[in-house]
Amino acid sequence: MSAPAIAADRVIADLRELARRTSDDAGAQRLCWGDGWRTAREFLGELLAEIGLEAEIDEAGNAWAYLTGEAEPALAVGSHVDSVPNGGWLDGALGVMGALGVLRAWAEGEARPPRTLAFVDWADEEGARFGRSLFGSSAVAGAFEPAELASARDADGRRAQGVLADNGVELERVLESRSRLERLGAYLELHIEQGPVLEAEGIRAAAVSGCVGVERLRFEIRGRVSHAGTTPMDARHDAGLAAAAAALRVEEIAVVEGGVGTVGEIGFEPGIPTAVPGRASMVVDFRNRGMDALGRMLEATREAVAACAAARGCQVSEEPVWSIEPIEFDPELVALAREACEGVTGTAYELPSGALHDAASMAPHLPTAMVFSPSIAGISHAPEEDTAESDLEAAIEAFGDLVERRITTAS
Ligand code: GLV
Ligand code: MN
Ligand code: MN
Repeated sequence: MSAPAIAADRVIADLRELARRTSDDAGAQRLCWGDGWRTAREFLGELLAEIGLEAEIDEAGNAWAYLTGEAEPALAVGSHVDSVPNGGWLDGALGVMGALGVLRAWAEGEARPPRTLAFVDWADEEGARFGRSLFGSSAVAGAFEPAELASARDADGRRAQGVLADNGVELERVLESRSRLERLGAYLELHIEQGPVLEAEGIRAAAVSGCVGVERLRFEIRGRVSHAGTTPMDARHDAGLAAAAAALRVEEIAVVEGGVGTVGEIGFEPGIPTAVPGRASMVVDFRNRGMDALGRMLEATREAVAACAAARGCQVSEEPVWSIEPIEFDPELVALAREACEGVTGTAYELPSGALHDAASMAPHLPTAMVFSPSIAGISHAPEEDTAESDLEAAIEAFGDLVERRITTAS
């Protein structure tokens, strides 16, 4: 019996409809736990209902739907519909609609799949609201402590606990979602690359070998607020300039260690043109494929921030926001993904991911692999994010083929 083929055109139509319902002129607006995200979830509910399925929401807010097959454990397929603010139409959404396309192909066919397919839309992959990425998938993986979000607030000052509760999620209970893992035997995810490699190499779909590790922390620098007009330049304790100097050091450290480092969030107090900033808060996110190099980046950054603060008579404190170790995906599944991509595009190619993915949460527990499509100009987390339709089709078909290879061969 041959597996029913995934309808790539239907997956792309679903993506366009999702974008129509949840984007504005500034981009995708599916920030997790907000209105746009809930609209996206409603749309998923409609699509699942069309194939006779209903989403089950777990204790961490992840949405699951199971298409029962001849055998278990199930093969999980999914990604995330949440987006960064003013995000792109494909980040996460491609993998969710692609996963749904796989279930749809079987649901509309004659036979049951040889193995149960578990569709999952992970909650708050982006961490764009509370700084804590991979929320739902790390809860299922048991790699989350409720205390991590106990004091977190969003940009409007709302506490994570209240925002989650508004969405039916009790922070103290999210780890109960771990039971979802028991039914799963492997995890596969389709995603856009979000970087420039595949486009530059002319590759239309590729296997992903693993994910970088991340260290993300917040530094608070305290100086002294004083009048911008009357405080001589040599009598200031400017916390803002200390943070700015430290941000430049983050760039240098990332280059030296062959990783990436970003200060994507910075704030000054009192934050008015007429006062020397007395307080600066900045979040540093740095990433590396090597665990040792990641550790060196962390230490070098701590030293640099302390030195930049001391040079201006300021004090520093830090708090961890989030971290995850670098991880390699399952070699056999990655090889299968390479073969699937080669079957569709004629080229076998493999690359590591610089972006984070829920697959990184699953990989310590389940054989895991991913398929990437190229991203035009490597742009993502921005409204310009896009992929040529023919490349989307190739990656969707390669993903469908990878799922088929896995469920028809794996025991
Ligand atoms: C998520 O998209 C990340 O890589 O931070
Ligand atoms: Mn993503
Ligand atoms: Mn993202």
